[in-house]
Amino acid sequence: MRAFGQAAGTAGPPGSDRGSPTVTRRRWLEQAGRALRGTEASRRTAELLLCAVLDTTRVALIAHPDREVPPEAEERLAELLARRLAGEPLAYLLGWREFYGRSFEVDAATLIPRPETEHLVDEALARLPERTVHFADLGTGSGCLAVTLAAERPFWKGVAVDISEHALETARRNAERLDAADRLTFVCADFTRPGFWDAGDAGLHLVVSNPPYVGEAEYAALDPGVRDYEPKTALVPGPTGLEHPRAVVEAAWHILRPGGLLLMEHGATQGEAVRALCPPERWQDVETGRDLAGLDRYLAAVHR
Ligand SMILES: C[S@@+](CC[C@H](N)C(=O)[O-])C[C@H]1O[C@@H](n2cnc3c(N)ncnc32)[C@H](O)[C@@H]1O
Repeated sequence: MRAFGQAAGTAGPPGSDRGSPTVTRRRWLEQAGRALRGTEASRRTAELLLCAVLDTTRVALIAHPDREVPPEAEERLAELLARRLAGEPLAYLLGWREFYGRSFEVDAATLIPRPETEHLVDEALARLPERTVHFADLGTGSGCLAVTLAAERPFWKGVAVDISEHALETARRNAERLDAADRLTFVCADFTRPGFWDAGDAGLHLVVSNPPYVGEAEYAALDPGVRDYEPKTALVPGPTGLEHPRAVVEAAWHILRPGGLLLMEHGATQGEAVRALCPPERWQDVETGRDLAGLDRYLAAVHR
């Protein structure tokens, strides 16, 4: 464990030195925060790890800072800190990430839900009236989109599709924990396969999707925290990055009813290319939505 203290350029955290006395929560947080670079975000990371390992809340940590960290917990914490310092995303260490105010289980087979994907939820809820809506989520991963829509609108019903059976199991568990499982069906399928849409319902009101859209060259330049830990199949569809967005637009055209809405996330430089996938004889009201950074982030298009 000394190695990770050295990697951070600071002394190791409590527990990194075998035989060191037991430490209090306060002291562990101070030292772990420093090892993680000493920023406000580092302190928050240290708190989240300590809460997870002690199975307690932030309020309890603040209320009882002088309680001792048991030696077994210290060992587990040292291991998690070493993994974080090596670049592993916090969400994989904790086993969850928050999305639209709910906690979603994640693991190495599921993409970590991103805040920019919440725009698809905002847009769907704002555009569709308060009545029964039948929807599909193509490439559901952790289920963050499908489960959130079903949780926000208990009278909506959805099909969550993914090529990864492992990801679907995680999505199913998230749906059960968040009381949305009875309105969702989980289907293991490849949405790029010609005729994928033949097996399903052709009268949907809504298709949402955050498909893999990173091209091979862009992937090589990604932050190692993403490239080395998140599943490549969730990120890269092929050389250009447009292969799966094209397949989603095609599938959506077949499974939406006339007037049905497609909302699909894409890369910040893909707005124009993605709009070009929606010819006027098939789609109307084709628009690009922006994220909070002002970058092109998603397609909205209405089936003719
Ligand atoms: C970018 S992730 C999005 C996950 C989740 N919807 C989210 O927003 O966090 C893309 C998902 O599409 C799935 N996927 C990739 N290729 C697929 C295919 N051909 N058919 C179905 N799902 C696919 C991946 O397994 C992954 O879960």
